[in-house]
Amino acid sequence: MKLWGGRFTKETNQLVHNFNASISFDQKFYRQDIEGSIAHVTMLEKQGILTGAEREALVDGLNGILRDIENGSLVIDGSQEDIHSFVEANLIERVGETGKKLHTGRSRNDQVALDMKLYTRDELAEIDHLLKSLLDELLRLAELHTETFLPGFTHLQKAQPVTLAHHLSAYFEMFVRDRSRLCDIYLRMNYCPLGAGALAGTTYPLDRGYTAALLGFDGPTRNSMDSVSDRDYIIELLSALSTIMMHLSRFCEEIIIWNSNEYRFVELDDAYSTGSSIMPQKKNPDIAELIRGKTGRVYGALVSILTTMKGLPLAYNKDMQEDKELTFDAIDTVKGCISLFTGMLSTMKFNREVMEASAKNGFTNATDAADYLVNHGVPFRDAHGIIGQLVLACIERDCSLDELPLDVYRAASPVFEPDIYDAISMRTCVEKRNTVGAPGFQAMAEVLASYREYLRTTKLCGTDDREA
Ligand code: ARG
Repeated sequence: MKLWGGRFTKETNQLVHNFNASISFDQKFYRQDIEGSIAHVTMLEKQGILTGAEREALVDGLNGILRDIENGSLVIDGSQEDIHSFVEANLIERVGETGKKLHTGRSRNDQVALDMKLYTRDELAEIDHLLKSLLDELLRLAELHTETFLPGFTHLQKAQPVTLAHHLSAYFEMFVRDRSRLCDIYLRMNYCPLGAGALAGTTYPLDRGYTAALLGFDGPTRNSMDSVSDRDYIIELLSALSTIMMHLSRFCEEIIIWNSNEYRFVELDDAYSTGSSIMPQKKNPDIAELIRGKTGRVYGALVSILTTMKGLPLAYNKDMQEDKELTFDAIDTVKGCISLFTGMLSTMKFNREVMEASAKNGFTNATDAADYLVNHGVPFRDAHGIIGQLVLACIERDCSLDELPLDVYRAASPVFEPDIYDAISMRTCVEKRNTVGAPGFQAMAEVLASYREYLRTTKLCGTDDREA
């Protein structure tokens, strides 16, 4: 039985039914569909559109459907076009004639707009929670590694020494921004479309503010045509999810490099690596590679929905049904990736000695050697040239600046004293960098304290009271 069979004289062609149907995927929000219907019915009674007995019968029926789906006794099959039709048809079976009043003052257009918002709102909060766990892990590691040195890179060439805490804190910043993006979206999307009807509202005296409050929205949406055809929040969400994936992917790329035979900065835990079917020696970073790879499909979802929406006249068009599968897929992908990434990170071993040795060779202290000259009155441009010559001398002798004899230093410039070695030691190079945001121990300690405070006080998206 179709919800809309009345004006039709022929059965729908089976292929048309299949092509049109969305129940195979929109069943994902059965819970939100029922939640929305219960709020709708509650409001209808308050407004005198339904009697108390009718409301009770409908709410009991809806709760029964929810219970039976969750305990497996009611299976969502493909006989109905979508989850809305499925719930309504089942309700009528359960409670009889009264069930037919459920859809009073409502269209599937505002209903699906509501369901999708409720669903994405729940998932957004969940993703925020996962990001918070990742930040907890990043801070734990950063606190362990405030004095673990490694080279900082530009152009993937060794540049200046930093600490692992500093490197991890760069990602901490990215994921904090990701969380704040999610919260911004939450605030902007949190208005209830229910009551917009098909596109032009309804003649029933609905109390849209009341329904909105029942469902935890900040209020009703203000234009009924926009309400049923707005998918901006999905686009914003997919954009934020794409950025999260981009951050994870960059981090994964570094882990893949660090885990390579040449670098050996880290070793992935056996539980987070895989082997080769032919080469017995292999231990591959597949999880990091997969996360990097899955970034493409999340970007794909964003481009897909942007393209779907670009030519749609107001108000609802069936094209919009295409928002679901890709959004669900992107959400599930991102949730899986954040969880796996956090697990991989927390079990990874950092090879301190290898990192430090790498930071020591590669002339990462050349800038500091130039600064030494500047501190002794040599103009920076001259100092740059002198140290350049000394680096060349090192390359010829196959040694580091720390190992170059003092007489070679003195031959290049008479201002060099034995304290040059201390001035360019890796520890000094890091220690002296204490401007805000730099890797110096003092600067880093302050930043880490602020992260601790952030994680202690921050609330999850959309919650005022729930403990983060
Ligand atoms: N499955 C539809 C969707 O996802 C529900 C809305 C149907 N509305 C309509 N006028 N056919 O968009």
